Amino acid sequence: MNIVLSGYGRMGRLVEEVATGRGHTVIGRVDIDNVSDFETLPAADAVLDFSGPGMLPALAGYVKRTGTALVCGTTGLKEPDMEILRSLAEYAPVIYSANYSLGVALFRHLLESLPAFAKESFDIEILEKHHNKKVDAPSGTAKMLLHTIDPEGERPVVAGREGIVGARTKGEIGVMALRGGTVAGEHTVYFFGEDETLEITHTAASRRIFVAGAVKAAEALCGKEKGWYSLDDILFA
Ligand SMILES: NC(=O)c1ccc[n+]([C@@H]2O[C@H](COP(=O)([O-])OP(=O)(O)OC[C@H]3O[C@@H](n4cnc5c(N)ncnc54)[C@H](O)[C@@H]3O)[C@@H](O)[C@H]2O)c1
Repeated sequence: MNIVLSGYGRMGRLVEEVATGRGHTVIGRVDIDNVSDFETLPAADAVLDFSGPGMLPALAGYVKRTGTALVCGTTGLKEPDMEILRSLAEYAPVIYSANYSLGVALFRHLLESLPAFAKESFDIEILEKHHNKKVDAPSGTAKMLLHTIDPEGERPVVAGREGIVGARTKGEIGVMALRGGTVAGEHTVYFFGEDETLEITHTAASRRIFVAGAVKAAEALCGKEKGWYSLDDILFA
């Protein structure tokens, strides 16, 4: 596979290492100093994007021009950005996930199968921890877990508590972020009940778990029809 890296930071470099180790060839590396390369780079089999939301217009232009399959993992995207991303499915096969690890896919499935009483009888809170270089909060994964628990977005979300905030209201979900050191990513969903607590935690020991999933997604998207694909289509097909 010929691939283009959109974003050549920690994730981009690791994607290069893993992808070349699997026999793929990197034909372009686009970052803050050479964004305009997207106007001239030839088509590739896949472009893997781990950058920042500001990269999206140039990346979208490249996908529209060349029809190159897109694996996007950038977090901090707002709804208008997601609309742009979804519109690219008219031009190429596209996949987006805020977390390409198998363990978080399993976590999501566990949350999807929660019995109704779990949401009614327990106070649910989410805590995420990441390294001190992470720029967005809460993490895309925390938002994805929140969306899985509350797909319609009906529950009040509390992003921090300070001062006399009053007692916790029934149904609210706290989403808290800790930052420090080199933590690759940890997410816990708490179910606080009467005299008992259930915690489900996913711990990323390294970024390799995300990269392995993203490269696998690129390999699977290669040769697929244009359209919008989910990680489940790829990992569990
Ligand atoms: N989906 C996943 O599984 C997953 C896993 C880990 C990280 N991420 C996300 O991937 C992204 C990158 O993470 P990282 O750890 O490599 O960060 P990083 O800061 O090390 O690298 C990001 C790179 O993107 C470049 N960049 C940012 N905005 C840009 C812009 N507007 N134009 C051009 N280049 C731009 C930066 O210069 C930098 O080199 C983040 O959004 C992070 O949350 C996703």
